[in-house]
Amino acid sequence: MTDVTGETADVLHTLFHSDQGGHEQVVLCQDRSSGLKAVIAIHSTALGPALGGTRFYPYATEAEAVADALNLARGMSYKNALAGLDHGGGKAVIIGDPADREHGGVKSEELLLAYGRFVASLGGRYVTACDVGTYVADMDVVARECRWTTGRSPENGGAGDSSVLTAYGVFQGMRASAQHLWGDPSLRDRKVGIAGVGKVGHHLVEHLLADGAEVVVTDVREESVRRVVERHPEVAVAADTDALIRTDGLDIYAPCALGGALNDDSVRVLTAKVVCGAANNQLAHPGVEKDIADRGILYAPDYVVNAGGVIQVADELHGFDFDRCKAKAAKIFDTTLGIFARAKADGIPPAAAADRIAEQRMAEARAAG
Ligand SMILES: NC(=O)c1ccc[n+]([C@@H]2O[C@H](COP(=O)([O-])OP(=O)(O)OC[C@H]3O[C@@H](n4cnc5c(N)ncnc54)[C@H](O)[C@@H]3O)[C@@H](O)[C@H]2O)c1
Repeated sequence: MTDVTGETADVLHTLFHSDQGGHEQVVLCQDRSSGLKAVIAIHSTALGPALGGTRFYPYATEAEAVADALNLARGMSYKNALAGLDHGGGKAVIIGDPADREHGGVKSEELLLAYGRFVASLGGRYVTACDVGTYVADMDVVARECRWTTGRSPENGGAGDSSVLTAYGVFQGMRASAQHLWGDPSLRDRKVGIAGVGKVGHHLVEHLLADGAEVVVTDVREESVRRVVERHPEVAVAADTDALIRTDGLDIYAPCALGGALNDDSVRVLTAKVVCGAANNQLAHPGVEKDIADRGILYAPDYVVNAGGVIQVADELHGFDFDRCKAKAAKIFDTTLGIFARAKADGIPPAAAADRIAEQRMAEARAAG
C-alpha cells in the first residue's frame, strides 16, 4: 500500500479535517495527449452551482496546485454568497506555464478543449470563467466543449472584460466606507491613492474624478501611469506603493495590483483612514485585519468590494445585460455598509463580519434544503 505523507497528507488533512476544508468534491483531471493536468475543486453548492475561474499557473508541485484550488474555491463560496448570487463556490487550476506552446508554455487549443470536457463532465455542478493566466479567448475555446463556461467574448455570446463593473463595485465600496466613517457617501475632496492602474485601477480613476475626489496613482508599469495622466493631468503620481501609502492627508488607499498589500510593514505606515481596493487577498496573513482595526483604519473586505466581476460572469449565464448587472453591482454599497454595521455590533473586524454574514447565508440555504 502507498504510504501517503508530506504535502499530500497535509492537503488531505485540510480537505477532510480542517476549517479550511469541507469541500464537496475535488476532481483531478489528466489528459496525457494534450499535457493537461488540472484540479477542479467544488467547495459548496448550497446556494447553487459552484462558480469560479480557472487559474493557469506553473505550480511547483501537484500538491501545491490542489491546495491552491481548495483555498480559492472556498474563497469563491464566500464571495458569491455576499454578492447575493445563487451560486456556490468552486475554482479550477491548470498546472503549467500559461504561455502558449510557441512561447515555451503548455497552453494549447487541444489542452483547453480537453479541460472543457472535464468541466462538462460535472454536468453543471461547476461553472468556469477566467482567472490569472486564462483569458476571454481561452473561455471561448473551453465553451466549445462545455456549456457551463462564462467570461466569453461578446462575439461568442459573452460579456467580455469584467474590469468595468469591478471598478464600479469598488467605487461603491468606497462610497459606503465614506458614509460609515464620515456620514456622507460623497468622495468630493477626499484624497484617494490607487496602487495599480491596470484594467480595474484606471476605470476607478474615472469614477473618483467624476465624484470630485483628488487622485494619486502609482504603478510599476510606466505606460499604465502614462495612460492615466495623459487623459487626466490633474492626477498626481507617487514614485511607488511605499511612497503612496505614506502620502500626507491620504483618506483612502485602494490596492489594485497584487495580493498581500496589507502586511505588517504597510499597515504600520499607512496614512489612509480607509482601505478599499480591487486586489484579491489583500490581507497578507491572518491577524492583519485586527492590526488594521487597532490602528483605527476601516477595511472594506476585498472579496466584497471586488465582486463586480463575478456578478458580471454570473449574469452572462442568463444572457448578459449591462444595466441589470450594474444595478446588482450597485448593491455592493449596501452590502459593505451592512458588514461595517455587523462588525460594530459584534465587536470584530469587518473581514470577520463579512465571513460571518456569508456563512449565515450558506447555512440558511443548507437548512432550507
Ligand atoms: N479584472 C477584474 O475584473 C477583477 C475582478 C476581481 C478582482 N480583481 C483583482 O484586482 C487586481 C487588479 O486587476 P486588473 O484586472 O486591473 O489587473 P491588471 O493586471 O490589468 O492591473 C494590475 C496593475 O498593477 C500593476 N502592478 C503590479 N505590481 C505592482 C506593484 N508592486 N506596485 C504598483 N503597481 C503594480 C501592474 O503593472 C498593472 O498595471 C488583481 O489583484 C485582480 O486579481 C480583478
